[in-house]
Amino acid sequence: MARLDVTETFHHISFPGHIHTQDSLNYALHFQFQDRDTVIATYPKSGTTWMQEIVTLVKNRGDPQLSKTVPNWARAPWLEQHYSAKVLEATQGHRILTTHLPYNLLASCHYLHPISQVIYVARNPKDVAVSYYHFHKMAKFLPEPNSFDEFLDSFLEGSVSYGSWFDHVKGWTSQAGVLANVLYISYEEMCIDFPQDLQGSMERISSFLQCPLVGEELTNSLRHCSFSSMSDNAMVNYTQIPKEIMDHSKGKFMRKGIIGDWRNTFTEKQIGIFDTVYSYQMKDCPLTFMWECP
Ligand code: A3P
Repeated sequence: MARLDVTETFHHISFPGHIHTQDSLNYALHFQFQDRDTVIATYPKSGTTWMQEIVTLVKNRGDPQLSKTVPNWARAPWLEQHYSAKVLEATQGHRILTTHLPYNLLASCHYLHPISQVIYVARNPKDVAVSYYHFHKMAKFLPEPNSFDEFLDSFLEGSVSYGSWFDHVKGWTSQAGVLANVLYISYEEMCIDFPQDLQGSMERISSFLQCPLVGEELTNSLRHCSFSSMSDNAMVNYTQIPKEIMDHSKGKFMRKGIIGDWRNTFTEKQIGIFDTVYSYQMKDCPLTFMWECP
């Protein structure tokens, strides 16, 4: 099956051309944020879809009606993708917005509205790289990957779609204590000791969104955003995307949903190279992440 991997290059970063145009990327840069917007910002494969589900459930107090009937991209559109302007025109009330854009790019035209709530999700970049590699196999709008070794080189030098993981994380975390209303959370915090940590994270997120959940609201939210429940939910597992765009015979979007899968893929040599680049790149990062702890 033919690949659709046309690339839009914007500010020196490649974006998949079937969902991004120069206009849609410029739209994101000039987007007018509003007071009650919730912005989910992530590098790809860091738990974006999971956070979209969590925020949807929190805002609906655990009622899964919306998350079971409306696709994630329609209820939490990616600002930079070509359909978002249309989707947002039809959205009433509080908006949930998603973005994979690096902070420096998004902020090059304006700062995020100070009252918008921003949730930034980060994930161990070794797991991100493995997840992204598998995603490249199924997503026909991304270049066909060769070996993992080759993919890892591109990931480390930041030449993959959406740019450098390091720049993304450093850019967004540079706003800790600067952006008034930002919650930093990691994929690992949400799933290291399922379900206790997911519950703790859900409580943190719901308080941050000023929508604290109680009793059944919390238990229902937890149930509907578990990996197994989301794997069966056609509104988030991307099974409804045609095979010309996502080839489901090459893998599943809801692939493993675990921490540390990188250990099954990385060689000793790759670990050494990765750790060297990581230490150099992340030396000035203001936050410490769970995966950095021995
Ligand atoms: P894996 O490929 O490691 O399984 P994104 O939405 O940013 O593209 O991230 C996709 C990754 O998040 C995939 O990782 C996917 O399985 C994982 N994921 C999605 N929902 C999850 C959930 N409820 N629990 C754990 N992981 C989840």
